Amino acid sequence: MPVVKDFFIALSNNKFMNESAKRMGPALGAKKVVAGVDIDSTIDTVEKLNERGISCTLDNLGEFVTSRHEALEAQQNIVEIMRRCYNANIQAHVSIKLTQLGINIDKDFTYQNTREILLKAQEFDNSFVNIDAEKFEDLVGITEILDKLKNEFNNVGTVIQAYLHDAMNIMDKYQDLRLRLVKGAYKEGPHIAYQTKEEIDRNYIKLIEHRLLTANAFTSIATHDHNIINHVKQFVKNHNIDKNSFEFQMLYGFRTDYAYELADEGYNFTMYVPFGEDWFGYFMRRLAERPQNINLMLLDIFSA
Ligand code: FDA
Repeated sequence: MPVVKDFFIALSNNKFMNESAKRMGPALGAKKVVAGVDIDSTIDTVEKLNERGISCTLDNLGEFVTSRHEALEAQQNIVEIMRRCYNANIQAHVSIKLTQLGINIDKDFTYQNTREILLKAQEFDNSFVNIDAEKFEDLVGITEILDKLKNEFNNVGTVIQAYLHDAMNIMDKYQDLRLRLVKGAYKEGPHIAYQTKEEIDRNYIKLIEHRLLTANAFTSIATHDHNIINHVKQFVKNHNIDKNSFEFQMLYGFRTDYAYELADEGYNFTMYVPFGEDWFGYFMRRLAERPQNINLMLLDIFSA
């Protein structure tokens, strides 16, 4: 349903809607997919997931960062959540977005900002820091910064989007880094990205298989797609791939029972847990991926 997808992606990019939603607080189903607006409720969520054998990657939500002040504030919030996780001795690391740390303001400033997070992460038990993949127009800058940071730090990794025609080359370039493999969440043109689900799924499987057979580092397979997950389970069995060389990941609030099932089966599992006031863009992208997620909204409205 490309029209529906375009509609929600357009909403996710609407600054006015994002600002208004921030003032309103998480509503209309977002509460089910955002762990909370503050660090305390997020730590509670992580502790509960840890009890179920699930680790977490925390995303301090933030969209439309246009000033150095906002970018520095985001950096400080990220350091604070890392500190709190370390002090609470819980299984969690952070996922960060370089747009939030200022990439559309100044690249060198963003590099320094991100470097600061990685330095602090080293103090917190060399905690892993994942740099999320974003819109293609931001990826060039993100890659430049990552290329510098990967030479300085061993606790940084990133995300490969299978919808990109060039995904295999990008993945090979980063073969020594811990990588998360995803299908890709943004709207990109046909000259950059595959457009159909069949093409994207085919490329995704190709990437996963290649990575699992050749990787020098840990791999996260981030999907809610049971067909892909079943394929991976069979593939690792057939090729005798060590279960500790990879994990599955899902987004908080989606297919939770399935996540528990995979963790109970002995697979490493990490939940992506977004938190903070800036929930709107994140939630609209989830509706764009799967309009059935609208059910989450309806459930909220009728249970209010
Ligand atoms: P997809 O949406 O293609 O669904 C495939 C099938 O799975 C569906 O047809 C349905 O049968 C089943 N299914 C999916 N969701 C379901 C649900 N909620 N309930 C029941 N059945 C369901 N993207 C990006 O560009 N940059 C990034 O950094 C990240 N990071 C990231 C982290 C994590 C942990 C995840 C899980 C995802 C991302 N993504 C991302 C998003 C990713 O690129 C992608 O858009 C979404 O995961 C949606 O694709 P899926 O692979 O989940 O399945």
